[in-house]
Amino acid sequence: MNFEFTEDHLMIQESAKDFALNEIAPSAVHRDKTAEFPHEIVKKMGELGFMGMMVPPEFGGAGLDTISYVLAMIEISKVDASVGVIMSVNNSLVCYGLEKYGSDHIKEKYLVPLAKGEKLGAFALSEPEAGSDATKQKTTAERDGDYFVLNGIKNWITNGTTADYVLVMAATNKELAHKGISTLVVEKGTPGFEHGIKEDKLGIRSSDTCSLTFQNCKVPAENIVWEEGKGFNFAMNTLNGGRIGIASQAVGIAEASLEAAIKYSKERKAFGQTISNFQAIQFMLSDMAVRVDAAKLLTLKAAAAKDAGKPYYKEAAMAKLYASKIAVQNALDAIQIHGGYGYVREYLVERYLRDAKITEIYEGTSEIQKVVIARALLDNK
Ligand code: CAA
Repeated sequence: MNFEFTEDHLMIQESAKDFALNEIAPSAVHRDKTAEFPHEIVKKMGELGFMGMMVPPEFGGAGLDTISYVLAMIEISKVDASVGVIMSVNNSLVCYGLEKYGSDHIKEKYLVPLAKGEKLGAFALSEPEAGSDATKQKTTAERDGDYFVLNGIKNWITNGTTADYVLVMAATNKELAHKGISTLVVEKGTPGFEHGIKEDKLGIRSSDTCSLTFQNCKVPAENIVWEEGKGFNFAMNTLNGGRIGIASQAVGIAEASLEAAIKYSKERKAFGQTISNFQAIQFMLSDMAVRVDAAKLLTLKAAAAKDAGKPYYKEAAMAKLYASKIAVQNALDAIQIHGGYGYVREYLVERYLRDAKITEIYEGTSEIQKVVIARALLDNK
């Protein structure tokens, strides 16, 4: 076992850190207040290869491994978790899925611009009545000659109002339950496809979340991903990688909370000394640091398994379950160490708490991660 990163990993980590500090940090507070989408930042990230990190260069990507992706995701999410989720969805749920399961036509037409960051993608599985119980798709896609006709509503779609292309899961044969679900690539602007208004969220406010509606929306049959009836397996396989992305996002938030807490505790004085001298604070900082390392190692373990071509669904679920939990805990502890200052917007730690909470909910709630882990333990996935 080797715990050292390669030169290339360290270079990617450094360039993500530089980009996050120089290009993302200056507008992060403003965008949290206004909920403005970071269009310019996402465009630059595309130019630097951060939007299609794991896609081979022949399809427009950076051709890097999952470890590099984790390191970049952590650095970016440390500065702004909103940008982290935009990046994660495009990389893990959209580009990875199309590269692994898309036809040559889909790769050429959709994957290349998505991996280059010239276009943005979204992943539409959740519905008003199908969240954790994702097999209960009410959206339908009926075959009509060379087209599928989509009807239904999707909910909580990250990048929903901005995405150029959306991967939509829909029932092509209701009688077959999850074996009758298929995935289609739908272009923005297709008649019958509308998005709702951007949700006013607790955290990750400058990311873009909305519902999507499809009313007799005709999608070319050649836009089917993998094959008819494979849409649920597509979603599950893709979400396994997505969970590595969200775990990395959570690690970034947890590490940001730790760093803010260390900095503040060395500046703030009480009872004639800096509060970092107090054991009560030192113990909190120690616990926070152990959690960050443990979450990072779990996330890197899942990434290493994926890179080695080994099964990683359980590892990804474990990483997301733990990293999301400790992101919330570290943000709470950072607020506690900041006292009253932690509760106001002047300091960043209250945003870390608001941003951390969603990591326990999206791409499978913590309860769903436990289901996945337990089924793997009992060999009953
Ligand atoms: N990896 C690969 N395949 C999996 C899998 C996994 N982790 N979990 C289930 N599957 C497969 C099964 O092997 C089975 O396939 P076959 O029929 O081919 O054998 C199929 O999926 C159905 O599995 P189950 O019978 O176990 O289905 P279930 O209904 O009992 O449970 C579930 C499945 C694990 C609960 C699943 O519904 C699930 O993961 N739900 C959560 C959905 C989710 O994560 N939603 C997130 C929305 S996307 C989002 O948040 C993105 C964003 O914008 C940020």
